[in-house]
Amino acid sequence: MESTTITQIAYLISAVLFVSGIKQLSSPATARSGNARASLAMLLAIVVTLLDHEILDWTTVVAAVVAGAAIGGILARYIQMTAMPQLVAVFNGFGGGASAAVAAAEFLRAGGSGPALELGVGVTIVLGTLIGAVTFSGSLIAFGKLQGVVTGSPVTFPLQKTLNALLFLGVLLIGASLAHVGVANSVAPVVGMTGLEISGPFFAALVAGALILGVLLVIPIGGADMPVVVSLLNSYSGIAAATTGFVLNNYILIIAGSLVGAAGLILTQLMCKAMNRSLGNVAFGAFGTEGQTARAKTGQRPVRDVDAEQAAMVLAYAGSVAVVPGYGLAVAQAQHELKKVCDLLEDRGVTVRFGVHPVAGRMPGHMNVLLAEADVSYDKLLDLDDINAEFDSTDVVLIVGANDVVNPAARDPDSVIAGMPILDVDKARTVIVMKRSLSPGFAGIDNDLFYMDNTLMFFGDAKDQMSELVKEVREA
Ligand code: TAP
Repeated sequence: MESTTITQIAYLISAVLFVSGIKQLSSPATARSGNARASLAMLLAIVVTLLDHEILDWTTVVAAVVAGAAIGGILARYIQMTAMPQLVAVFNGFGGGASAAVAAAEFLRAGGSGPALELGVGVTIVLGTLIGAVTFSGSLIAFGKLQGVVTGSPVTFPLQKTLNALLFLGVLLIGASLAHVGVANSVAPVVGMTGLEISGPFFAALVAGALILGVLLVIPIGGADMPVVVSLLNSYSGIAAATTGFVLNNYILIIAGSLVGAAGLILTQLMCKAMNRSLGNVAFGAFGTEGQTARAKTGQRPVRDVDAEQAAMVLAYAGSVAVVPGYGLAVAQAQHELKKVCDLLEDRGVTVRFGVHPVAGRMPGHMNVLLAEADVSYDKLLDLDDINAEFDSTDVVLIVGANDVVNPAARDPDSVIAGMPILDVDKARTVIVMKRSLSPGFAGIDNDLFYMDNTLMFFGDAKDQMSELVKEVREA
């Protein structure tokens, strides 16, 4: 068989593995195997591509693979679960940067004379560079915001959107003149050059403009909205890779890039829907800085609070308990203690289930990951619709560090979270809310649930209080 045929067959197998791997990622039960399958697909694609193409310097390739694998392995091993969004941001940034670098290399290989390029090649080189560079600088800013290296507050200034729009138009014009001889010949005289002469400086301007655009697009977005932005940048990195695939005429890069582009876009949409916000609101709304919104008037109404012993009694004598985890569970890292409480309750014959809201926490699947770490069985995790159908027949809901996702204010059309799908925990017989204070969550608004007749506030750090609860449930 010809080597090209073998390569195409290997690419086909790799594509099937990518698609089936992504399908498996849609359930926590199969996600690990999906990840392994997609990694295998990537390995196959890389090996086949390396063998198929004339490699000029194997030493550099092997050194890069060893260094990259070591850095990736160490990061994946030691990264904290709560720092996962910034790790993904860095990965996206490098993905975008790599695509831009490949597109730039192709530009130089073609003699660095953009307008002389064939139109299709020119357009893909320009798009790969533009999207890749925007993804690179935007992702680094997203990383900085999540890591606290740059301010998490939205950075805004007068005429910001106008400036962004003008810069975008400028970059497009530069890109068009690099990709199309006609545009180059019209633009070049304006700057006193010929169509061919503008290539070098214009390509540098394209890269610089795209890098600045990436920064400007991300700085006005609040730190807590970053997971949505990271997901969008993930999609961009895929599109950049697919574009580079067209530049190199490499089918598997086109397929893998398109899959990442589509998956990132779908995830972005799902996150926006679960927060009941439009992408435009996330991108331009300057909402979502923790502590920035001082709309909550907490602590002005009486609440009923309980200690660990009282909470344990309510839980231990219930027939059914639904646990609702939220961001505070992740902050306190209380998942293992929570699991112990649930095991003790089950030993007593209490039915325990978990209600997982799609945007509980700060990243997609945040709660699933935490609960999986604590070995909570997947069949006990119910999603929003399933658990909502059960709350009115549930004895006790135990909320651990969740706030917005259980806030009945979402039913009020005038609320800032109006229309956000919530867990209808207030329909249960008793609700125990475990958090440190009456402080608001991400959306910065008060929660009427805390003041309802069937609600008991169980104040304290989730980890400390869960440890107390373990002792008390044992003795109940
Ligand atoms: P939040 O509404 O943010 O509430 C978390 C609560 O945890 C806080 O009110 C805080 O109250 C409590 N807490 C913090 N540290 C704690 C600790 N050590 N022990 C006990 N409690 C602690 O969280 P949620 O209900 O999970 O909702 C998530 C929010 O984030 C939604 O508004 C969502 O739209 C947004 N968001 C989610 C995502 C994704 S993808 N998940 C992405 C971006 C934004 P105290 O300070 O009183 O303890």
